[in-house]
Amino acid sequence: MGLKEKIEEIKAEMSQVKVKSAEELEAFRIKFLGSKNIIKGLYQELKEVPNELKKDFGQKINALKQEGEKAFEKFKASVGGGQKKATSNKIDLTRPAEEIALGSRHPLAVVRNEIIEIFNRIGFNVSEGPEIEDDWHNFSALNFPPEHPARDMQDTFFIEKGENDMALRTHTSSVQVRVMEGSEPPIRTISPGRVYRNEAISARAHCFFHQVEGLYVDKGVSFADLKQTMDYFSKEMFGEKTKIRLRPSYFPFTEPSAEMDVSCTICNGKGCNVCKYSGWLEILGCGMVDPAVLDSANIDSKVYSGFAFGMGVERIAQLKYRVGDLRLYSENDIRFLDQFKSAY
Ligand code: PHE
Repeated sequence: MGLKEKIEEIKAEMSQVKVKSAEELEAFRIKFLGSKNIIKGLYQELKEVPNELKKDFGQKINALKQEGEKAFEKFKASVGGGQKKATSNKIDLTRPAEEIALGSRHPLAVVRNEIIEIFNRIGFNVSEGPEIEDDWHNFSALNFPPEHPARDMQDTFFIEKGENDMALRTHTSSVQVRVMEGSEPPIRTISPGRVYRNEAISARAHCFFHQVEGLYVDKGVSFADLKQTMDYFSKEMFGEKTKIRLRPSYFPFTEPSAEMDVSCTICNGKGCNVCKYSGWLEILGCGMVDPAVLDSANIDSKVYSGFAFGMGVERIAQLKYRVGDLRLYSENDIRFLDQFKSAY
């Protein structure tokens, strides 16, 4: 079949087409006007036509193409007529808006950020260290001698037993060592992070949780500075009326060591079931950095002194949001997480 007959045939075919629906309209468009359409094929064939006839055929094909486009517009108007009317109505401003799904920050992130902010305000920077830690940074440099029973205070997940045991860090105190090794006093830093302990999972214990470590090393740092800093933190975190209480305790890396309580945030010290009618809630461990720890990080303990503290983020979140069950923090239950939308 010659090109001329083909053009005639397509023209005839096109004029026969009846379009009654949007699907038929689309079929028409694909067949005659789409990227792999019939008319395009004709332009390909035009290349083979002798030069003197090209102009004439070219015009015929162009005319056919325009006819196709015209027909398409006509069909479109007839098919889409009804719809057009509906969509051309004005926007209904009284229609209730669709709800936009808002995410929320995880409560532990909210509390961690708040702790960081409180300490930033008094000149503490933020430092981080690895979660897989060697024995030196998690234990030895913190004055836990080998075989020392204090190592049993923290049920460790060991990864590799060897000359330099690798383990999941049991506390963020490992980061104090790294900071001291890598910088000169004055040091004022807090180290937030995840820690791991080999404990059976229950409402009150989990195999991982979060801590924020604090370290302050300079000339003449005293226990009074520690107490003042803890008092400032507690009032910022739990409110101006909050009181603190330090009880003697033991950590290998601090001397003297203390455990710190805040007055119960729920009953204000009167006694309730959250504070077990004592009026006090334990929130952190702290103390003066043991001179042996300073020396093992090459900081001269005859010149410098410091204090350190470590708190559990889940514990603070529990007091702030009354979430007692530790498992909730890692279950990713949307119904739980959704409740923290207003927190930042
Ligand atoms: N690392 C201790 C713990 O995990 C807390 C602590 C930190 C105590 C710093 C004293 C000083 O229990």
